[in-house]
Amino acid sequence: MIVGIESTAHTFGIGVVKNGKILANVRNAYTTESGGIIPFEAAKHHREISDEVLAKALVDAGISLKDVEGIAFSQGPGLAPCLKIGMEFAKKLAKENSIPLIPVNHCVAHLEIGKITGAKDPVLLYASGANTQIIAYAGGKYRIFGETLDNGVGNFIDGFARYLGLGFPGGPKIAELAEKGKNYIELPYAIKGMDVSFSGMQTKLKQLYDKKGNINDLAFSLQETTFAMLVEASERALAHVGKNELVIGGGVGCNKRLQEMCKIMCKERDCKFFAPSNDLLVDNGAMIAYLGEIIFKKGIVEKNLDKIDFLPRQRTDEVDVKWK
Ligand code: ATP
Ligand code: FE2
Repeated sequence: MIVGIESTAHTFGIGVVKNGKILANVRNAYTTESGGIIPFEAAKHHREISDEVLAKALVDAGISLKDVEGIAFSQGPGLAPCLKIGMEFAKKLAKENSIPLIPVNHCVAHLEIGKITGAKDPVLLYASGANTQIIAYAGGKYRIFGETLDNGVGNFIDGFARYLGLGFPGGPKIAELAEKGKNYIELPYAIKGMDVSFSGMQTKLKQLYDKKGNINDLAFSLQETTFAMLVEASERALAHVGKNELVIGGGVGCNKRLQEMCKIMCKERDCKFFAPSNDLLVDNGAMIAYLGEIIFKKGIVEKNLDKIDFLPRQRTDEVDVKWK
């Protein structure tokens, strides 16, 4: 029985996993009326609700802390104040109950949770607010084959939504407008190898909006262009590493049109496409517990808590993969 704690950004989440089955997945997200996330405010939110989220997760799973064999937590990457709260909470639980600690990389957890849908050795299209990466395990490491050269795709979409006067998160609102769009307006399509960039498109969209462009058509064109870039980069990664499974992860992965485009590309390449349910796509504790359990089962735990620290800038390819 493994408990997983997620606190890299806006979401504080706790999940419970046993033998690859999710017994609980409780989340509480910090939100704002307007404007973006303030790291210290988010950290304060996490600290205040952590006990409550844990209590609910234990009830949902029908267990007590005595049943828990390992505490996994998101070690990085993420916002330092938020990571600190999660780690301190994990250490306190570990110490008080003599349970070993399992540090987990957040991005790798997004990939590994895709396996719950049946994927075995996938490429991950990780499309969240802050991150846009194409990740796969190759040559003994998780590698980033492509990524955004500027904004994360979600932050880019949220930024344009904010410009239109829509609140946060903007992704679902843009998706709604896009469904009503009919005319495709050509936008800067920026992809180099497997890297993508959104700043040119951002500028162009704002100009078109200022010139009284139709917002439905703009939202539609934004989605079609952005997602085509992500799908092209994913396809290139699949070909490059010779894999035939694509998993989607991150909050933007909830977008039905993006999922549909991935599905079409995969079908054409004779690949399989996997999309976990929305509560596993967004930041959550279950994915941390899920990867934590895989690591735990290989006997890799850290008993000396002083040796463990959070890593705000931990890169996917820096992760020491001892469990494979
Ligand atoms: P990470 O730490 O992994 O970068 P994050 O903090 O960016 O995570 P997520 O919950 O993974 O958070 O993703 C949030 C993003 O997902 C927001 O930009 C939001 O607009 C976007 N989003 C949520 N639902 C949808 C949707 N249906 N369509 C498009 N975007 C969506
Ligand atoms: Fe995430």
